[in-house]
Amino acid sequence: MAIAEPQLSPAERYRPAARALHWLIALLVLVVWPFGMVIEFIKDDTKLVFYLVHESLGFLVLWLMLARLAVRLIFPPPPHPPMPALQARVATIVHILLYVALIAQPLIGFLATNALGFPLDWFGLVTVWSPLGKSDIGWTLLGIHEVLGWSILVLFVMHFGGVLHHHVIRRDPTLYRMV
Ligand code: HEM
Ligand code: HEM
Repeated sequence: MAIAEPQLSPAERYRPAARALHWLIALLVLVVWPFGMVIEFIKDDTKLVFYLVHESLGFLVLWLMLARLAVRLIFPPPPHPPMPALQARVATIVHILLYVALIAQPLIGFLATNALGFPLDWFGLVTVWSPLGKSDIGWTLLGIHEVLGWSILVLFVMHFGGVLHHHVIRRDPTLYRMV
């Protein structure tokens, strides 16, 4: 069984902005990722809707991640509960890689679609300007997008496994710092 919710002081928890952005981005990624994965299997007109949702929500993740990075740089996260040095290092590396991947992934997806000749029409509202127009590196970028997609899944599984380990096995307040 997990521990009862401890009373953490504000200094022991992530800032409200960091918490809000964490859960909003987590939700978006958990929608965007499967949408991206199933697109290739859709053969009728709904494919275009899947592209629109995947690309528009994915592009939103880019800007939310940049805001989150700014929040992170201005307000360092709270100290984590005592744990073996190696475990703390692995958690830090996974967090850094998640930041890098969640900024690179939407950016590369965006540049790839532009390179392939499909500018992003964000939720059908506005066509987003791209620094890279039509180019023959489109398929290469899409290949990187695919590899990064699987990498994000691996990082998420490590992340979720780590949080579960803290919450259920070590029974420390790691999770409560983010809720
Ligand atoms: C956090 C943001 C994003 C995540 C996590 C993500 C993830 C994925 C994943 C997992 C796939 C499937 C790859 C495969 O087939 O193995 C995919 C495909 C794709 N993504 Fe993204 N993506 C994101 C943002 C974007 C953005 C912003 C765009 C473009 C504006 C985009 C364009 C595409 C395209 C064109 C495909 C190929 C779909 C197909 O034809 O099969 N993605 N994405
Ligand atoms: C859905 C279940 C999830 C739970 C229960 C969860 C829980 C947590 C917790 C407790 C922390 C703080 C850990 C610590 O400071 O050591 C954290 C941090 C983090 N999480 Fe999640 N998370 C979830 C989903 C996600 C997803 C889907 C992503 C992105 C793909 C993500 C990305 C991150 C990142 C990048 C951090 C580091 C935050 C920072 O230090 O600025 N999380 N998460």
